[in-house]
This record gives sequence, C-alpha cells and structure tokens, in this order.
Amino acid sequence: MASIQQIQSPTLTAFAEDILQGLSGTPKKLSSKYFYDEQGDKLFQQIMRMPEYYLTDCELEIFESRKEGILQAIGQDHFQLLELGAGDGMKTKVLLRHFLERGVDFQYQPIDISSNVLMELEESLRTELPALKVKALPGDYFKVLHELRGHSGQPKVVLFLGANIGNYTLEQAQRFLRAVAAELNPGDLLLTGFDLKKDPGVILNAYNDPAGITAAFNLNLLRRINRELGATFKLQDFKHWETYNPITGETKSYLVSRKDQHVFIKALSRSFHFEAWEAIDVELSKKYSLSELESLAEQAGFAVQEHFFDQNKYFVDSLWRVE
Ligand SMILES: C[S@@+](CC[C@H](N)C(=O)[O-])C[C@H]1O[C@@H](n2cnc3c(N)ncnc32)[C@H](O)[C@@H]1O
Repeated sequence: MASIQQIQSPTLTAFAEDILQGLSGTPKKLSSKYFYDEQGDKLFQQIMRMPEYYLTDCELEIFESRKEGILQAIGQDHFQLLELGAGDGMKTKVLLRHFLERGVDFQYQPIDISSNVLMELEESLRTELPALKVKALPGDYFKVLHELRGHSGQPKVVLFLGANIGNYTLEQAQRFLRAVAAELNPGDLLLTGFDLKKDPGVILNAYNDPAGITAAFNLNLLRRINRELGATFKLQDFKHWETYNPITGETKSYLVSRKDQHVFIKALSRSFHFEAWEAIDVELSKKYSLSELESLAEQAGFAVQEHFFDQNKYFVDSLWRVE
C-alpha cells in the first residue's frame, strides 16, 4: 500500500490532504471546519433554530440586551470590525445595526472559509443594512488575519462569536489566542463567545437532538467527501454519537462505523478500512468555567475588560484588550 508521502502531491487540494491525514491516523479524525459546504451551512442554520440549541438564543439575548454596554466597553467611535468565522452573521447584525444607529464610523470585514456563506451574508447586508461598509474576506481566518496585519492604522475590534473557540482544545485555544494577539496591536479588542459549563443534560441535548438534525449535519461531512473527492461512504453505515465530559468540559461528536467496511476515495486513489464500531472523531465543543477563560485571556496577553452574560449565565461574550 502507498504511504502518505507517496500519495501526497502538489495537485491534492488542502481538503483532500486533510482527509488523507485524518483517515490515515489512529484514531481517525476529521476537522469540523469542513462541515460547512452549501448543505452544511443550511443544516447549521437549522441547528441554530432548534429549541435544544440554546447557544444561539443566549448570544442573541446578550447582543439585544447589552449592545449599548458592548459599544461603551469598546470605547471608540472609529474602528475596523473583523469577524472570524462569521457564518450567516444573524446575531452580529444586531450589533452592526446598533453601531450604525449610534453613528459609529466602522467597516465590517467578515472572514469565513465558506465563500458560499460569505456571499449570502454580503447579499443580505446589502438589503438589510445598506449604509454599512462591508468587505467580505474569504479564506482561513488565520491566513486572512495575518494578511491584514498593520494594514489600516485604525484600531481593530475582532469578533469571534458563537462559541467557535470551543472547537479547540484548551491547549489549541491558548495557541490560537496567542497567535491572534500577535496579529493585533496593544489596545485592540477581541470579543469572544464562550459556552459555559452548566447542567450536563442541557449541554448533551444541544448536540443530540431527537429530530436528528445534528446527526444529519455531521454525516453531511461524509457526503461532502463523496461528492468532492469521489468517495464511496454509505451514510447509513455510520452512526452519529455524542458525549459530554463535565470535568474537561469537552462535548465530542463521533461518526461510528456500524460494520467492518472499506471506503474508497478516488481523489486519493486509495481505500480506508473501518473496523466494526471504529469511530471517527469529528468535532469538539469545549465548555468553559469563568476562571478557566480568564486565565486563558491572561496567558494569551489580553486583559479582561468586561463579561456580558445571558440571564441564565449559560453563555458569555467576553471582551478583552491586547496589553
Ligand atoms: C459554527 S459556525 C458559527 C458562525 C457564527 N460565528 C455564529 O456564531 O453563528 C462556524 C463558522 O466558522 C467558519 N469557519 C470554521 N473554521 C474556519 C476557519 N479555520 N477559517 C475561517 N472560517 C472558519 C465556518 O465556515 C462557519 O461559517
């Protein structure tokens, strides 16, 4: 059988290379950033509307009730507003509208790896907030943030919402935040959404809905590999499985092979063996305690400016300043 080095070639896309690496390892692991193709974007929008998925409602409540407090804490009326992994921007629009109404001079720069979702966002902003200055930036947020380094001379306010940070382990989040701080200047701000530790039953239900929307969302990753890389995954031969560990705060999603099987991926010219009940690790959603996120800020070189909670204290948008 060919080794990974032999198969890797300059003609493989980043997606194909990541799938090759992920399915060649033990345990098998795929990145959740690839959930978001056109179908994945639609399924995620359905997830955000599910009653069990409290995260969206909490963050929306925070923005609706604290938008003026957030603006006061930002403390400037002239800045560049960047958003990492903007998605459909549904919640962000509450802030954008408020900032416009208050006469703030800013340009909104949403960054997303899904150019599809970004196009839809731009289009909706054109009709809903025609006065807004928008510059959509497709690509990996890290690459884009790096390219923007020192560009404008204006202070930057960076949004990283919707508990996207939860997709990283604690160590990865530390590295990520240090790297974000390194791309910013002292005084720049970062507003990050953190899902907080709470009743484990509430957390597990959010990722394990009875209607099976989350299962369809996760399984869609296999459909994407079938379509884009010519693979032979049969979705019915994999099962969505969810766990929550209240000590680490880690909610984990797996796709478990229901039987011993081989899956061929044409773009990689190779097949992958799955033993019966072998799992692919597909997503992490880490939940934080307040003390944990405060030390995360400090270690990455930020000073915590203010926490904005929903009324249940399920979620926090935490504003930090680069020191
Ligand atoms: C869970 S959605 C959240 C969207 C939005 N922030 C919200 O709170 O509703 C994550 C978004 O981040 C984008 N994304 C994930 N990883 C990314 C990366 N490395 N670079 C750029 N965008 C990324 C996805 O395409 C998706 O639109």
